[in-house]
Amino acid sequence: SKNGYPFFMEKEIAEQPKAIKDTIEARITDDIVDFSKDGIPEEVFKNFQRLYFIGCGTAMHSGLVGKSLLQQFAGAYSNVEIASEFIYDNPVLDENTLVIAISQSGETIDTLEAVKMAKKMKATTISIINVRESSIAKASDYVIYTNAGPEIAVASTKAYSVQVAVMYLLTVQIAMINGKMTLEEGKAFIKKLRKIPDVVEEAVKNRETIHNISRKIIEAKDLFMLGRGLDYSAILEGSLKLKEISYIHSEAYSSGEIKHGTIALITQDTPVIAVVTQNKLASKELSNAIEVRSRGAKVILFVKDGIKLENEEEWYEVVRLRDVSDEFMIFPVTVALQLLAYYTSLDKGLDVDKPRNLAKVVTVE
Ligand code: M6R
Repeated sequence: SKNGYPFFMEKEIAEQPKAIKDTIEARITDDIVDFSKDGIPEEVFKNFQRLYFIGCGTAMHSGLVGKSLLQQFAGAYSNVEIASEFIYDNPVLDENTLVIAISQSGETIDTLEAVKMAKKMKATTISIINVRESSIAKASDYVIYTNAGPEIAVASTKAYSVQVAVMYLLTVQIAMINGKMTLEEGKAFIKKLRKIPDVVEEAVKNRETIHNISRKIIEAKDLFMLGRGLDYSAILEGSLKLKEISYIHSEAYSSGEIKHGTIALITQDTPVIAVVTQNKLASKELSNAIEVRSRGAKVILFVKDGIKLENEEEWYEVVRLRDVSDEFMIFPVTVALQLLAYYTSLDKGLDVDKPRNLAKVVTVE
């Protein structure tokens, strides 16, 4: 049941703090990550030469977060591949390859075929799955089940957040087993991760602020989202969400890349959402946003509290997001962009949970 909410999507957005908590806590023993609870031996995270994350749509986007975190905290390189491309791209697969497949439903045919191929070529396969006993779970060597509970809305929300949460757990596991993080560092990281459910709770409560922003984009035909680093991963997901349920054409662009062509599309009053939450990147992200603003774009800034803005009144709108350390900002940004898509769709009078042309589970290749 929708529990009093008009749509499942809103209910599922609100369920995220619990979903994240349940997913994280199930893999912690003595304040540190423990995948032995999932039956995965530690060696699996040590003895690989190549690592691929594969998935489709939102699930693939969570892999992008995994890639960034692994580089930053575990010194480990990975590839993120769209499952349907992976199958035909002649990926390098052998017994030294670890393939991590991500899927809410566990039934997406492209992801399933990719896992089967990886197994056939002797790679070790781990899947991150929400639906128990699903086909991908059964086809994989190991499964990390996410604890989001049933997700009904076609637009994925809580399933994404828990997949992302698993990325943090994997990062600590891989970093520690490969000597890139000490036990103390691992514990400190996990301590911060355990505070994320509260951060997400607060972000969900901030819904009216985001609802007001959605009213500013409701008439838009085209829109751009800009960000760098983890903000870029976040806007890829946020932009997909907006397209999927509000039918606004939205393009997520790396703030640094837009000037290599796409900025030609920025004209007077083009709506742009610029996400600026990474301390290290903020000055670059802001100067890229100023560039599009000076071409006439109406720039809505989603900025981390604590990042200083000069001449704040020059922005079309400014939304402040709770200040947590850079690597965890993906959570409050994600919630804000989910709510933005939700309210835009709702106020347009669309069927939020069942957007046109889409199904919850995609079983055609
Ligand atoms: O069940 P899966 O996670 O394998 O589904 C993958 C995609 O089809 C899915 O994430 C899709 O992109 C969502 N509708 C996005 O909200």
